[in-house]
Amino acid sequence: MLQCLGRCLLSYRVTGHRMMSQQSLAGRVAIVTASTDGIGLAAAQALGHRGAHVVVSSRRKENVDKAVALLQGEKIQVTGTTCNVGKREDRERLVNMTVDRCGGVDILVSNAAVNPFFGNIMDSTEEVWDKILDVNVKASFLLTKLVVPHMEKRGGGSVVFVSSVAGYQPMQALGPYSVSKTALLGLTRALAPELAHSNIRVNCVAPGVIKTRFSSALWQNEAIVEEFKKQLAIKRLGEPEDVGGVIAFLCSEEASYITGETITVTGGMSCRL
Ligand SMILES: NC(=O)c1ccc[n+]([C@@H]2O[C@H](COP(=O)([O-])OP(=O)(O)OC[C@H]3O[C@@H](n4cnc5c(N)ncnc54)[C@H](OP(=O)(O)O)[C@@H]3O)[C@@H](O)[C@H]2O)c1
Repeated sequence: MLQCLGRCLLSYRVTGHRMMSQQSLAGRVAIVTASTDGIGLAAAQALGHRGAHVVVSSRRKENVDKAVALLQGEKIQVTGTTCNVGKREDRERLVNMTVDRCGGVDILVSNAAVNPFFGNIMDSTEEVWDKILDVNVKASFLLTKLVVPHMEKRGGGSVVFVSSVAGYQPMQALGPYSVSKTALLGLTRALAPELAHSNIRVNCVAPGVIKTRFSSALWQNEAIVEEFKKQLAIKRLGEPEDVGGVIAFLCSEEASYITGETITVTGGMSCRL
């Protein structure tokens, strides 16, 4: 009888704790860029399941509509809009719409990236560098600059950048993209001390090879997958949810003493600069 009561109390405590952490972002508003597919969509789901109102966006309206319907089907509070993060007017519209419709901003997950170039870095052009740095690096900073005043009005907030394992070790044929991802590691560390004064934490995730459309050239080739697996402690490629949960953790109160940090989500690939 006593044993049974003990078991019940234990399971009540565990369930109760889980319920609490599931709603740990209730009342928060989260902008996640490039969130109609892959890692961004998984981040929106993870934040939404913890109670946040998520604002999803990407370039194509049909993708936005599909993501909104999917998240609504999961009982997540969601608002959707188109936004190409490389365009100033789109970034401004995204933030203004969020404030108008949701009352403020607490969380920014800057996830969008492009890679228009494969090959030897010495063959990359000025146009390639402009595009990669504009979308992958400058837009992340400029979006942060736009949301910070709104976070300050709410007494603080959390920013998460999505970098890559390629930011630690440039990947073959992905030179300019890799450099842009290294820049995000630096941006995280440059912003964190300055924004700590406003109670805003700035962190970063660096995924390894995650099975999404973006990385399909890698994981659809069996020989490349086998080669990658040799570098992994956990012998499988990552799923978007593996990264989404880490992003939601970094945005939560459980991470309230973490800032300026990058968490690698790579299945144990060794990463260092
Ligand atoms: N997958 C990996 O192995 C891996 C590894 C390391 C890092 N990452 C990083 O993870 C992030 C997400 O990649 P993913 O693999 O999840 O990609 P994905 O599944 O292919 O999804 C890409 C998303 O980005 C949107 N998008 C593309 N360009 C955009 C732009 N200029 N502005 C706004 N939205 C845009 C796409 O929708 P629309 O087409 O509608 O715009 C889509 O929602 C990127 O920063 C990438 O560098 C990925």
